[in-house]
Amino acid sequence: MPADSILKHTVTLLLVLSILVTSARAEPGSLSESTTEPASSRNGMVVSDDRIATLVGLSVLKEGGNAVDAAVAMGFALAVTYPRAGNLGGGGFMLVHLGKTGRTVAIDYREKAPLKATRNMFLDKKGEVDVERARHSIYSSGIPGTVAGLSLALEKYGTMPLEKVIAPAIKLAEEGFSVSADLRESLLRAEDRMKKSAESMDVFFRNNGEPPREGEILKQKNLAWSLRQISRTGPRAFYRGAVAKKIAAYMKQEGGLITERDLASYEALIREPASGSYRGYEVHSMPPPSSGGVHLIEMLNILERYPLGRYGHNSAQYVHILSETMKLAYADRSKYLGDPDFSPIPTEQLISKQYAKRLANRINPQKPTPSRYVKPGLPVPAQGTDTTHFTVADRFGNVVSNTYTLNFSYGSGLAVAGTGILLNNEMDDFSAKPGAPNAYGLIGGEKNSIAPGKRMLSSMTPTIVLKDEEFLLATGSPGGSRIITSVLQVILNVIDHKMSIREAVGAPRIHHQWLPDILYVEKNAGEDLEIKLRKKGYEVKKTGSMGSTQSVTRVRGFFHGAADPRHPGGLAHGY
Ligand code: DON
Repeated sequence: MPADSILKHTVTLLLVLSILVTSARAEPGSLSESTTEPASSRNGMVVSDDRIATLVGLSVLKEGGNAVDAAVAMGFALAVTYPRAGNLGGGGFMLVHLGKTGRTVAIDYREKAPLKATRNMFLDKKGEVDVERARHSIYSSGIPGTVAGLSLALEKYGTMPLEKVIAPAIKLAEEGFSVSADLRESLLRAEDRMKKSAESMDVFFRNNGEPPREGEILKQKNLAWSLRQISRTGPRAFYRGAVAKKIAAYMKQEGGLITERDLASYEALIREPASGSYRGYEVHSMPPPSSGGVHLIEMLNILERYPLGRYGHNSAQYVHILSETMKLAYADRSKYLGDPDFSPIPTEQLISKQYAKRLANRINPQKPTPSRYVKPGLPVPAQGTDTTHFTVADRFGNVVSNTYTLNFSYGSGLAVAGTGILLNNEMDDFSAKPGAPNAYGLIGGEKNSIAPGKRMLSSMTPTIVLKDEEFLLATGSPGGSRIITSVLQVILNVIDHKMSIREAVGAPRIHHQWLPDILYVEKNAGEDLEIKLRKKGYEVKKTGSMGSTQSVTRVRGFFHGAADPRHPGGLAHGY
């Protein structure tokens, strides 16, 4: 490595370490870690679910990198420090707003079904969905897209070499980092799935089958090796080189489907975002194969027709109109959405104002309309932090809004031998059988059936909102089916309810996804609301926290960041 490069690496790492030390002093470990420090700043803002990753992004900005450099560094760092959702073995979406041109682009690095995948691969002899096989097996993984996506973003829109932005991740994997209580708990929850994988157990349950205790240093040598390969030879290492060989060998040994050919054929894509307007604001979000952007804009178009600000935040009338709107959008999702490279998606129609007018006419302003196909007991498990979103804004006018995932916490639980790379279980996002719900209770149609090389439908909704061509808000969230509605409510809170970003992110959320016909309301939304909604005819279910939005706004030249208080350990940090 040339001397100046070594020097730059050292400077980056010293910066990260010094920030880590000062922040640890400033904020002794407590829930208040999910806060903003400082609350506003002119030069840039970084927000993520994980404080170490936020500080990595911040150090890149401080060194003169742009938002994309910082985001890519965070994407690699989260694979080390937030292994439940940060990943190399998963996929996601990145929205980039470019300060120079004012353009917004969408990078699609969603996983793809392997070439040997078949339509009915998750059906048992009776034709029922074999949930274990779809979610927790070697067949659960799509071809990973993260390394291709992050590399493409950096190559097109970044300013720093890959070697440089990946360096903090390598160091964190090699030298380790201090385990938080939250990380330990999440590992305990995933233990059953991880037990099937010698590599997962070796990395995370090394102490006689125990996960590391809070404060213990977790080193990930094999993951450091994988990151080093990528640092040396770029994404090639992952898709055609040493890492690809290990993934294919592991798959062969375990009887899985992903081959060297699958990996070599994977490509991340740049797509036009799904774009619309809401009360004079420009909204850009992720197009198919995510359902997020399309349904976000579809819902905003319907909601624009109602005086939401006048109803008041989380008033019964407000929640009624919101929930009826959500039902309409999620019903469309089940039929019209899938991979646009496999069948045409009526995006233009779904996000048109005319269509919204027609849908709004179907909303009874007083009462809920029962969802047509009621299937009581459809499982919709609590969803929170199995995916992760991060947002970066820089002083050059660039903004990155990125959501990526392994699907469940720690994906399938399986890790590729010798690489420390956890594998996604994203294949469950396909519709294994028409009408059968996936893990999030979402029902899909023909357009989301399994086919070789196809991308499974997602709900991830990284979003950027502009006003008069200037950046106003960027946000996104984990939460499975609840992602789209969480993002929607952050936007409504800012635009209709005039909340600050921290209020907008913290305010109690509601969710309806058409089927099951249940209105989910976060526990802290208040008894009174629940009583009024029941009176209107809703089946209301109180639920724990929904989503974990990581958001940035820019008001009068100042960036304001907010890590979602629903999740401990997040950090918004400006400079
Ligand atoms: O792409 C999707 O929509 C899902 N795989 C996301 C999963 C998720 O958000 C889990 N987190 N709570």
